[in-house]
Amino acid sequence: MRQRPGTQGLTVAPGARGRPNHLTKINAPPKTPRSMSPSRAEDARHGLQSILVNLDVDSGSSNLLRVAIDLAAGAVNRLMSNQSGAALSIGRTGMAGQFDGKVAIVTGGASGIGAAVARQLAREGCRVVIADRDSAGLEIMAAEIGRNAVPYEINVADALEVEAMIGFAERECGGLNLAVNNAGISGPAAPTADYPLDGWQQVMDINLNSVFYCMKYEIPAMLRAGGGAIVNMASILGSVGFANSPAYVAAKHALVGLTQNAAIEYARHGIRVNAVGPGFIDTPLLSKNLDQSTLSIIAGLHPIGRLGRAEEVAALTCFLLSEPASFITGSYHLVDGGYVAQ
Ligand code: NAI
Repeated sequence: MRQRPGTQGLTVAPGARGRPNHLTKINAPPKTPRSMSPSRAEDARHGLQSILVNLDVDSGSSNLLRVAIDLAAGAVNRLMSNQSGAALSIGRTGMAGQFDGKVAIVTGGASGIGAAVARQLAREGCRVVIADRDSAGLEIMAAEIGRNAVPYEINVADALEVEAMIGFAERECGGLNLAVNNAGISGPAAPTADYPLDGWQQVMDINLNSVFYCMKYEIPAMLRAGGGAIVNMASILGSVGFANSPAYVAAKHALVGLTQNAAIEYARHGIRVNAVGPGFIDTPLLSKNLDQSTLSIIAGLHPIGRLGRAEEVAALTCFLLSEPASFITGSYHLVDGGYVAQ
């Protein structure tokens, strides 16, 4: 193992093909929470009250000051409870720590939807192998999430690399319980007759074949762990067409079928497999490829009148992975602002 320049707390180990293919976090510092903690709010209240004690004023002024300080202390408390309430509720699908002791793999976890899923799983106690080909993005995620993140650099379109990743998760994390097969690209935009052959192949490799490779190796690992749950990231375009996206639409439709097949094969072995169908979500997949006016038009295609947020997809995904979803398998769940209902 060698230390990579500029990757504090991270080491890079050579992969199956002699090139670096995973990052193993060793001691990234825990991230400081952004919301005010209860103890900080208490400190603020005591601070305000100590002002009163230290002020040398007559009793009439003192009473007025006491009222003012009580009001201020109340405001601090309300601010604190709002802030920590928001921090606690964002993206939560159930009780805190519902994934304690579990190990998950999230492919495409360095950006967008995958990053939101990885954050939520980690927040709820899960150890998350964040699998992505973007090493810089992995480092950022590892530093942000802290000890529950296990960054792993991989090309999911390569079956051998996927097999090695599952072996890594079992060896280094003690097993595999959950998986979100999410990595994907949008591919070229062209009508079917003009669609480039290499673009077709690339979209199929990354958006469809990779999910088959992942499930092929995840399922035996989950059987060894006594069961598990998988979510495959499809799209609304897993059930309807979209002009100039033949490869993406075909891959996502096939992904729904692949999900149903695996679900019925392993339902009695304690493994649930579902697909999620997001509408258009505000992530780099869209923002890197489309200008602002196109994004506005696309937002308007949703009855809700806006693009979705990655956290909204993560909430559904984490619910499907969780115990309360124990009777849900083989199904395809939309999170699309009403897009497909039209
Ligand atoms: P994103 O571009 O923000 O993130 C995708 C991640 O996948 C990136 O970190 C990228 O490095 C990684 N990735 C791509 N190819 C890879 C490969 N061969 N090996 C390893 N990692 C690879 O995209 P976003 O929006 O978060 O998309 C995630 C999934 O959600 C994709 O499957 C996409 O098709 C699907 N989706 C996205 C929608 C959207 O509007 N953003 C709508 C519906 C579905």
